[in-house]
Amino acid sequence: MPKIIYNHADGTHDVVDAPAGTSVMRAAVTGGVAGIVGECGGQAMCATCHVYVRPERLAGLPAVSEDEDEMLDCAAAGRDSERSRLGCQLFAGEAFDEIEVDVPESQS
Ligand code: FES
Repeated sequence: MPKIIYNHADGTHDVVDAPAGTSVMRAAVTGGVAGIVGECGGQAMCATCHVYVRPERLAGLPAVSEDEDEMLDCAAAGRDSERSRLGCQLFAGEAFDEIEVDVPESQS
């Protein structure tokens, strides 16, 4: 099963096994991972699912869509031109089999 590793600013991390088709946002919300809100339910309209993908995990991810690009500019923690993604737009088993992300200190 695809695996998602969420690293937190305090040095702790969560590991969630995500069924194929589950987004990085949905797996966090249902798995009780702190720091990812998913306010819009995955419609790329809130940026409260913002994550920084670890550099070694960027290869092979789908390109940022126009909607995602616009929302990332609104992310509370500030956008990283290489690493920032919306967690609701990255799907286990499609975009990745294993991914590691850093959770921003704040989503609002
Ligand atoms: S959940 Fe709202 S943009 Fe991802």
